[in-house]
Amino acid sequence: AGGEHPPLKTQNWTFEGVFGTYDEAQLQRGWEVYTNVCKSCHALDYMYYRNLEQIGYSEDEVKEIAASFETEDGPDEWGEMFMRPAEPLDPIIEPYENDAIAMLANGGVVPPNLSVMTRARDGGADYVYSLLLGYEDSVPEWVLEADPNFELAPGKSFNSYFPGYAISMPQQLFEGILEYSDGTPATPQQMAKDVSAFLQWAAEPELEDRKTLGRYVLVFLVVFTALLYAYKREIWKDAH
Ligand code: HEM
Repeated sequence: AGGEHPPLKTQNWTFEGVFGTYDEAQLQRGWEVYTNVCKSCHALDYMYYRNLEQIGYSEDEVKEIAASFETEDGPDEWGEMFMRPAEPLDPIIEPYENDAIAMLANGGVVPPNLSVMTRARDGGADYVYSLLLGYEDSVPEWVLEADPNFELAPGKSFNSYFPGYAISMPQQLFEGILEYSDGTPATPQQMAKDVSAFLQWAAEPELEDRKTLGRYVLVFLVVFTALLYAYKREIWKDAH
């Protein structure tokens, strides 16, 4: 069943608008949610630990974060692969060795890469936010009214925002699963918002540069137009 969805739980995001910027504290909290909750199933393709410097972690902090993960390296001089602590230049480790294992662990569905998710789905960060908070314990009336035969297959959860409503990702965000290191109360809403902002940054790390460039271009155009206008008046000042 396709069907209707409630309107997205639209948020005010700091990165919206011409003057939008990322909130580093929020992105760091979002990283904490990713690494404590989402990382066990979802990869962040193309992201490296050193990228975390962009969201305000120092070089030493990034080293420490990387070193808390194990990555596979090798082959060594005996042709063996081995595990070692990750370093800043390593890609952020993937949760599963391959898709077959990922599918086995998730009811036949591979959890998608999250690093471009906000660009891959209509609604972007608002969609991710709504999805994370869109779980219902039982199939709601408004779905049954539209489709009295709707049944949730075993292993699926009901999500108001997921296409077809039946999602292979169980609800993730609950009160009390995490303590933020900056002391912000980790309510499900807060975690959903922070991790959605983090994923927006992961998908568009260049957003701030682009907006800054856009503002320079605008200022340049205004000044350039004024100059041209003054120049035109200068040239034509004696014309009758
Ligand atoms: C799908 C986010 C944690 C398993 C997804 C999707 C998003 C997402 C945005 C894509 C939905 C779509 O296709 O439109 C997150 C976030 C997490 C998280 C932000 C952490 C807060 C987890 C965990 C698991 C998991 C821990 C495994 C236990 C899956 C699976 C899918 C999925 C299997 C595919 C669902 C389907 O196609 O039916 N997740 N996820 N996720 N996630 Fe997660």
